[in-house]
Amino acid sequence: MFLPEDMTDHKETDKNPAKLVAVCFLEGISYMRKIQVEELKPGMRFDKPVYIDSNNIFIGANITIKEEDIKKLMKWGVSDIETAGKLIATKEEIIQYVKRAEESSAFDSRKIISSYNNLLKNRKRLIEIHRKACKAVGDVYSAIKNSEPFMPDDLELSLSEIIDLMKDNHNIFLFLYGLDEGKNYLMFHSVNVTFYALLIGFGLKYPPAKLRELGLGTLLIDAGMAKIPVYITHKQSTLTEQEFNLIKTHPIHGYRSLRELGKIKESVANITLQHHEQFDGTGYPRGLKGNMISEYARIASIADSYEAQIVNRSYKKKQLFYHAMKHLISLGSNKFDPVILRVFMSKMSVYPIGSIVALNDKSVGIVIGSAPDKPLRPIIKLIFDANKKRFEETKIVSLPDEPSFFITKVLDEKEAGINLLEVF
Ligand SMILES: [Fe+2]
Repeated sequence: MFLPEDMTDHKETDKNPAKLVAVCFLEGISYMRKIQVEELKPGMRFDKPVYIDSNNIFIGANITIKEEDIKKLMKWGVSDIETAGKLIATKEEIIQYVKRAEESSAFDSRKIISSYNNLLKNRKRLIEIHRKACKAVGDVYSAIKNSEPFMPDDLELSLSEIIDLMKDNHNIFLFLYGLDEGKNYLMFHSVNVTFYALLIGFGLKYPPAKLRELGLGTLLIDAGMAKIPVYITHKQSTLTEQEFNLIKTHPIHGYRSLRELGKIKESVANITLQHHEQFDGTGYPRGLKGNMISEYARIASIADSYEAQIVNRSYKKKQLFYHAMKHLISLGSNKFDPVILRVFMSKMSVYPIGSIVALNDKSVGIVIGSAPDKPLRPIIKLIFDANKKRFEETKIVSLPDEPSFFITKVLDEKEAGINLLEVF
């Protein structure tokens, strides 16, 4: 967090980060420190530049931070900024600021907690639906591989089940974590991508017909890979340029197969064709730009990239949900449609559900939900107390309701000594 170690002796304030910020500023501590974006207030000024990260300056020295600057950071999911500067403000201004911080709005976390409990009840259902969907996708892939016609009936059935399940449990994707992907990751990946794409579809308030088109297209997103030689798709070492060029033909193979063998409609087959196009025109196969890429494909591209990061592959280790999200945000408006990315972020939060986090009191827990307008202050189910002792009863802390708590670090399972599958 942003607080220097030597500030921890301010006993009367150490339960309240807002007060600590104020004290810190007043005393003019002057070395690089992090400040949470949610602690920023319009009107603040620092006597040295403020940075988003080591490469990007947020605002120059002595420039007043405006409301829209803070909104911009929030919009892009930046959780903290850094500066070596001192806050330039009068004592009165700081007192006012602390007062406002203390009056933070009350937040009803009960809804999120009850939706998490609902989620737990649906875990078995998810596993069953996922297994069936993988089988249906696998059957279509086999047909395509053999250039045989196919009917998407089983896919449609699976899709209905997925949509029904997600309708009342948007966060059910939490349990995709740890599912056994079996021998063929392609099917597993396609089904997972469908969950994330539908999450965006729900966020965009798609009617059922559009959700179905989007979902069918993402279930068949990599159908064209069935036409790529297995020695390439299963290769453990780095691909040669020639092999990579072959992989890059899978959207075209997929599109043709869906249209010719499955009589899949254009708008759906286009998802397969365009899912590797990028918003800035640097994708393939056609280098389409912006809205030339179909909206469905722009959604699929985000879902596809996110999913690819959070799973293990022979050539790379999986990333934490949090880091995958940050990476996506950093690619931002170049690679993805910024509006759709924002919808995905609002659904996932900066700390996606399932993230393991350490709090300022040294307790450790997992994120179980968050409110769209509080992406940096999720609801956390605590697993360990400050002494690393496991809580025996369910203990939930709602950061929007508890201004004295804040996240200090995102941990992986090993660091935290937590097996996610055991603690959900
Ligand atoms: Fe692909």
